[in-house]
Amino acid sequence: MTDIIAGVPRDRLTRFRRVEEARYAAGRPRSKAAQGAAAEVFVNAVPLHWMADWPLPFPLLVDHAAGATLTDIDGFVVDDFCLGDTGSMFGHSPAPVARAIRKQARRGLTTMLPSEAGLLTGYLLCDTFGDFRWQVATTATDANRFALRVARAVTGRPKVLVFNGCYHGTVDDAMVTLRDGRTVTRPGLLGQVEDLSLVAACVEFNDMAGVEAALATGQIAAVLAEPVMTNSCMVLPDDGFHAALRDACTRHGALLIIDETHTISTGHGGYTRVHGLDPDMFVVGKCVAGGMPTAVWGMRPVIEARYLLANADRASGHSGMGTTLSANPMQFACLVATLAEVMTPKAHARMEKGAARLARGLAAAIRKHHAPWHVARVGARVEFICAPGPLRNGTDAAQAHMPEVEAAMNLALLNRGCLIAPFHNMMLVSPVTRKRQIDRLIAAFNEVLAELFQ
Ligand SMILES: Cc1ncc(COP(=O)(O)O)c(C=O)c1O
Repeated sequence: MTDIIAGVPRDRLTRFRRVEEARYAAGRPRSKAAQGAAAEVFVNAVPLHWMADWPLPFPLLVDHAAGATLTDIDGFVVDDFCLGDTGSMFGHSPAPVARAIRKQARRGLTTMLPSEAGLLTGYLLCDTFGDFRWQVATTATDANRFALRVARAVTGRPKVLVFNGCYHGTVDDAMVTLRDGRTVTRPGLLGQVEDLSLVAACVEFNDMAGVEAALATGQIAAVLAEPVMTNSCMVLPDDGFHAALRDACTRHGALLIIDETHTISTGHGGYTRVHGLDPDMFVVGKCVAGGMPTAVWGMRPVIEARYLLANADRASGHSGMGTTLSANPMQFACLVATLAEVMTPKAHARMEKGAARLARGLAAAIRKHHAPWHVARVGARVEFICAPGPLRNGTDAAQAHMPEVEAAMNLALLNRGCLIAPFHNMMLVSPVTRKRQIDRLIAAFNEVLAELFQ
């Protein structure tokens, strides 16, 4: 019997992948040569290890990026639907941010002191995301780590509750998974020596009974959650899940931390504002300063009061929070420009419209070619998932993940001028993504499906 993956015969997939690899390599002699040189100076020939995880024969070397387009050093102009995995979700170098960078460059880059622009940023953050008291970090990973530290300090409890299949950056505490219903350290972690089940508990998304049981232990300082799981194949919340989660946290005295680093794609103010969530703490990074490395995290005024008490009560010395270059004037300049002029309701409306068009087009192609696949979307973030749906939790999402098919799709779409994320077929629509770019991606997707499902 022929081996079938995600509805595609394996031998056909293998042939298809080979043809696409040859096509990619043939067109990119400069990228290939540069890759040879990079091996002499970078670990595994890339400056950041996951750049080697793209399913390409060798990495695409970017010459420049503008709007929703990338140009590589071999001269290919590519429609960018990866958008730096959200870092450039509002387009590459938005004009107001580029202007702010030029202006601030003449006024100093980092001082370790506050500024008036910092004040304005605080008001803009409250206007956009709600009534929180803010801090600025450099990555969303850091912001999550600091939020967890505050949660533990104010509750006096040791553990964070996370959902199976989550990702909140390289926060060690969240690197757990479920094995036979038990929380265990993720097996792939490099150099991990601590048993993370001592500091974390893990349950399935959409499993309120599991959440209640974990909270009932009295060990949970905070639930750290994405409103929609976007770091596995996309999982949407059941109706009423977020209201039940909020209620359970309140009853059990645990804080609710909502990480909007990806779900900021939902619309203005993120999923929290669009769907009326009520977290105790709020985290967002990546695109919040238009692509300049910045994250913000906020806490409700009542949590701030508890934090200030805990802070006053501790021994002097390191608190375990902060990094030297965080909250620097360049970040504030970019935050102000992004919040005031880029991340606007109008921009989100354009993104929503474009993403809905993309999702409709992909779903129509899936139906046309009778692929056993589906499409999921949260605002400007769209995924085609190479398995039937919808998915309800991290275990479903792991089973829906089809690495060989996803790798072939990623490469084939790139060969047709469309870059999508190297993780679970993720695509973002920015406010500067043109309708014709979306239609090109839909056409490329149709063409590839026609080959795979002949
Ligand atoms: C939900 C979520 N939180 C946090 C992070 C970490 O962001 P960073 O890599 O900028 O630290 C990510 C990264 O993908 C993420 O998806």
